[in-house]
Formats: sequence, structure tokens, C-alpha cells
Amino acid sequence: MKRGSFNSRLGFILAASGSAVGLGNIWKFPFEVSNGGGAAFLLMYLFFCFILCFPVIVSEIAIGRNTKKNAIGAFNEMGKRKWNFIGKMGVLCGVLILSFYTIVAGWVLGYVFEMVTGNFSIADNFGNYVNNTTSVLLYAVLFMFLTALIVSRGIEKGIEKAAKILMPSLIFIILSLIVYALTLPNSIDGIIFYLVPDFSQINLTVAGNALGQAFFSLSLGMGMLITYGSYIDDKNNIISSATLITLTDVGIAFLSGLIIFPFVFSSGIETEGGPGLIFQVFPQIFENLGGTTGIIVGSTFFILLSFAAITSTVSLLEVPVSYLVDEYKIERKFSVWIVALVILLIGIPSAYSQGKSELFTNFITYFGADKPIDFMQFIIDVSNDTLLPFGGFLITIYVAYVWKKNNLSDEISKGNPYYKGSFMEKYINFSVTFICPLILGSIFLLTFLNKFFGI
Ligand code: PFF
Repeated sequence: MKRGSFNSRLGFILAASGSAVGLGNIWKFPFEVSNGGGAAFLLMYLFFCFILCFPVIVSEIAIGRNTKKNAIGAFNEMGKRKWNFIGKMGVLCGVLILSFYTIVAGWVLGYVFEMVTGNFSIADNFGNYVNNTTSVLLYAVLFMFLTALIVSRGIEKGIEKAAKILMPSLIFIILSLIVYALTLPNSIDGIIFYLVPDFSQINLTVAGNALGQAFFSLSLGMGMLITYGSYIDDKNNIISSATLITLTDVGIAFLSGLIIFPFVFSSGIETEGGPGLIFQVFPQIFENLGGTTGIIVGSTFFILLSFAAITSTVSLLEVPVSYLVDEYKIERKFSVWIVALVILLIGIPSAYSQGKSELFTNFITYFGADKPIDFMQFIIDVSNDTLLPFGGFLITIYVAYVWKKNNLSDEISKGNPYYKGSFMEKYINFSVTFICPLILGSIFLLTFLNKFFGI
């Protein structure tokens, strides 16, 4: 069976940025910012992305391209079978993420239809909306169906082509919405809140969240970039691709704050800024815009979210699919539909965890916590905030101490003749050897103890 590949460098960058830019940027990032001291969070986030995550991005892509194999097979291909548990953990983590991501993406898709029909009152009934599990699951199935359709067409005709259409449209929509948001009254207050730092809000929990968010947002630590990296050729300059992917992801997260906060502040609606922000507050904002304007702005906003989500779900699905195709020689189309079905089943408890089922709503109480959390939040805590930074930590250990730095340098310099001896090479080598293992390892450990054991 011929393995697929990206047809162009731009295609790879768009697909990888498409994976990175997702609900994490537009739905999760703004409320993390508002809970974490505005720009104080933003600065820490930027530091994590460029200093800690960048070397991990480069390492993942290099492993993938060197082996031309999926997240697990890559380790076997290098003759380091013992280390393929990193890939196994990654595939598992991807499956968990996709299981709840599809449910939230289903909410988004449902909102597109509500906005198009001008049903803004949906915001008051968000609780009922998410507990109408039949419709939530139907939308989730529809979203997964579209995702699977893209992935089943393969790398070039499916994933790359979708990214080439969806990413430019997404950027166009974001820019139009920013221009619009900035014309609203009081929008400047929103910008001030967003951009003036309050350093007193920074503590370990916030730092842990910022690191988790950086990994989640860059789709890092679970072998997604090993998988996508395995579909590029030796001419590709890994450093500049990684730079563009990081800039796009961080840029779009930043820009979405320029839409969200002006909208919220101009509406005068009091908000806690939690996960319900865009689902509960935004429709009211769109309603206040009145009639047709509300319908147009509202549907555009949720279409933007759907576009962002689907290029991410596509990459999440590709990780296990690529594993089955490479390692078990199972036909792509067949793998896609089976994996999609299994993940939908795993997602059902998440759909029931927002109040519908007592068991999944009050799913677990961590040591030292006074309230139980729901199943979906539990999966988010385990996958985003724990497994991803841990995976990133292991990847840098693997690259520095098992695969070895000179092999990493050889791989990177294939598409980048000036790499060897450059400052970038020294920086990457120093980071993967010392900075990343040390800082990623300690933040991971502290967050883990703090989150699950209240220590
Ligand atoms: N980066 C995506 C987001 O910010 O929404 C989420 C994600 C996609 C995580 C793909 C991991 C992944 F492999």
C-alpha cells in the first residue's frame, strides 16, 4: 500500500496549523486568559509556546519525517520498541481528546443552525440544550461523519485539500469579526481588560493551566506532529515550518481575544467567563445587535468555530487511523469508519455529563477538593493538562538521551543546510537536553499532585 504524503510545504503548514487552531483557541483560550489575570496569562503562555513547546514541535516533526511512520510505529522503526509506550500514550490521549471534542463541536454545529434561524433564546436554555442528549449526539455524529469523510480521502485529497480551503476562510472570518467588534461601543474596555496584565493572579494552578493550554493548543505531546511529519519530504525546512505553525496558532488565539472581549464588554452583560462564555453570553450579544445583523454575525461566528474545530478533529482522527494503516495494514477507509465509531461511543458519557446523568455529572471528587467534577472535565484534566505535557516531557527525553542530538540535527539539516552550527541548533539541543525535561517535568509533576491530590 502506498503511504500518502502532503503535496506541498504550504499544504503541510496549513494542515498542521489547522490542527493547532481549534476550539482551544477560540473557545478555551479567552476564558483561560480572563481567569488568569489577562495579559499576565498571555505573557506566560507566549513564553511556554516559544521557549518550551517549540523544541517539542521540532522534535516531533523530525521523528515523524525520519521514520515515515505513525506515532507508535516511529519508535519501532528506529529500533527503540521499548519507547513506543510514548506513542501508545499519545494515541490513547488523542482518542480521549477526540471523544469530548466531538461533543463540544456538536454543540457548535447545533448553534450554527440556531443562529441561522435567529433562535437567540437558546442562550437562556443552554442547560437544556446540552442535556437534550438526542440532538447533541446527532450533531456529534454529523460532525464526526464530516471529519471521517475528509480523513477517508487520504492526506493529499482529504486533509490537505480541506485545510487549504478552510484555513484561509477562517482567517478571513476572524479578521472581519475583529473589524466589526472594534466598532462596537466600549470595545476599548474589553481590549484594556485583555491586554493589561494583573500579575497577582499568577500562581501554580494558572501556570499549570497555561502549560496545558499551550500543549493542547499546539496539538503537542501526543504524536500528532509525528504523524503529520511522516507525510513530508526531506526538502521541508522543519524549523521554519515549526515557526509558522507556532505563529499561526498563537496569532489566532490572540486575535480571537480581540473579538471575544470587545463583544463581551460592549454588551454590558456580566459574565463569569467560564466555559459557557461563548454558548451562553454570545447569543445574547448577537440578539442585542438586532434582526439580520445578529443573524449574520452570530452564524458567522459559529461557522468560524466549526471550521476551526474540523481541521482539528481531522488531525485527531488521523493519529489512530495512521497507526492502524501502517502497523496492521488495514485499509484506510475501513480504519477511519471503525475508529470514528469507537470514539463516538467513548464520547457518550461526556454528552451525558452536563446534568443528564447523575453518575457522569458528579463523576469524581479529587483528593482535597470539595466538589465533584463531571466526566468531561475529568477527561480534559487527564488528557490536556496531564498526558500532553507528560508526553512532551518524554519526547524531549527520548530525543536527547535515546535517539541522540546528532541524529536530530542530521534530520533537521536535511531541509536546512545552515542548521548545523547555527544558534538555533545550539538552542534546540540545549532545550531538549536540559530546559524542557526540567521545566516540563517539574510543572507536570506539581500540577499533577496539585490537581488530583490537592497537594
Ligand atoms: N489544538 C486543538 C485546539 O486548540 O483546539 C486541539 C487538538 C487538536 C489537540 C489535535 C491535539 C490534537 F492532536
